[in-house]
Amino acid sequence: MPGFKGLFVPGPTNMPFRVRQAMDVALEDHRAPDFPQFVLPLFADVKKIFQTKSGQVFIFPGSGTGGWESAVANTLSPGDKVLASVFGQFSYLWVDLCQRFGLQVDAVDVEWGQGVPLDQYRARLEADKQHAIKAVLVTHNETATGVTSDVAGVRRILDDLKHPALLFVDGVSSIASIDFRMDEWGVDIAVTGSQKGFMMPTGLAILCVSEKALQAGTSARLPRGFFDYRDMAKSNAQGYFPYTPAATLLRGLRASVDMLLEEGLPNVFARHRRLAGAVRAAVDAWGLRNCAQAPHWYSDTVTAVMVPEGVDANAVIKTAYNSYDLSLGGGLSKVAGKVFRIGHLGWMNEIMVMQALGGTELAMHDVGIKFEPGCGVGAAVRHLSRAGDAMRVAAE
Ligand SMILES: Cc1ncc(COP(=O)(O)O)c(C=O)c1O
Repeated sequence: MPGFKGLFVPGPTNMPFRVRQAMDVALEDHRAPDFPQFVLPLFADVKKIFQTKSGQVFIFPGSGTGGWESAVANTLSPGDKVLASVFGQFSYLWVDLCQRFGLQVDAVDVEWGQGVPLDQYRARLEADKQHAIKAVLVTHNETATGVTSDVAGVRRILDDLKHPALLFVDGVSSIASIDFRMDEWGVDIAVTGSQKGFMMPTGLAILCVSEKALQAGTSARLPRGFFDYRDMAKSNAQGYFPYTPAATLLRGLRASVDMLLEEGLPNVFARHRRLAGAVRAAVDAWGLRNCAQAPHWYSDTVTAVMVPEGVDANAVIKTAYNSYDLSLGGGLSKVAGKVFRIGHLGWMNEIMVMQALGGTELAMHDVGIKFEPGCGVGAAVRHLSRAGDAMRVAAE
């Protein structure tokens, strides 16, 4: 079909031309004398995205899953206790990875559509007088259900109880799109990948690690090789890497970080909030439910839309793709067939969101979901139009 395909899965996201062009370069010598002049400022600027002064950034060839593995392998020992919660496919997979590493995971089972259960975290941490729990896991944005959790809330609990556990955050579908504050929230390891908020191809695991986590690594006994922070830190300090870096992707990352910082992080977050609001307005107008069960869980990067009883969400996804070249995200595991997901993160603007909503209406109409054609698009227009903005400001 002529025209652009619509990519509205929650990662990989749309890649800006500037990022693509930045990677259209000859391959380079990563041991060249001037390579550090490129690498060192890049690390300094990636730190700004994590909103950290004291954290140390690590960039591995890999993806978010590799980032999870690095967090665990660098800080923990076999049999260590970890507190986590499962409320979607990604929070589940992180727990699974910990179990494969021989950790004892206390994984609180939460209804999908909700997020990190602060009360239950508090109760378990309070009961842990011996401080057996060595790490607490938080999936900041559960991409499978479109649920954002309260990382600062978990930090408050740890501080209230003076519990020394490390705080690990999966920010794969939040960092660079939704407000994330490494230092203010006392996060020890934040994990993300290149293919979501950073608007890049998959291929980099991007992490930020606290001094406390690095310290924990000196006595941690899990085996680590490829992902050893100590080797990375030693070479990175000189502007190099312990093995061949994905230099072309680093060129793309340079452009991506420039774009994010030029827009300004508060504006990036506000743009995501505004676009997400339009998608949520459309879902309401269609008479459908957001999988996230309450507004404080609503994600500004992805919305999982529940289809009516008796409808297969996969039919919407297939029709969108086959008939209209529109990629929507599928329901994973427990919510397979029950939800389709609209990704609204990264290089995204009003008219792209209108395209996604229009295409979704076409597909929903084709599979026989009952709604007034145009009602979701209309609700989004009212939410996004500048005239609407001016009227809202005047009314306030
Ligand atoms: C929240 C979350 N965590 C982890 C992952 C796994 O990351 P990757 O696919 O980059 O390995 C994903 C992937 O979509 C994710 O959305």
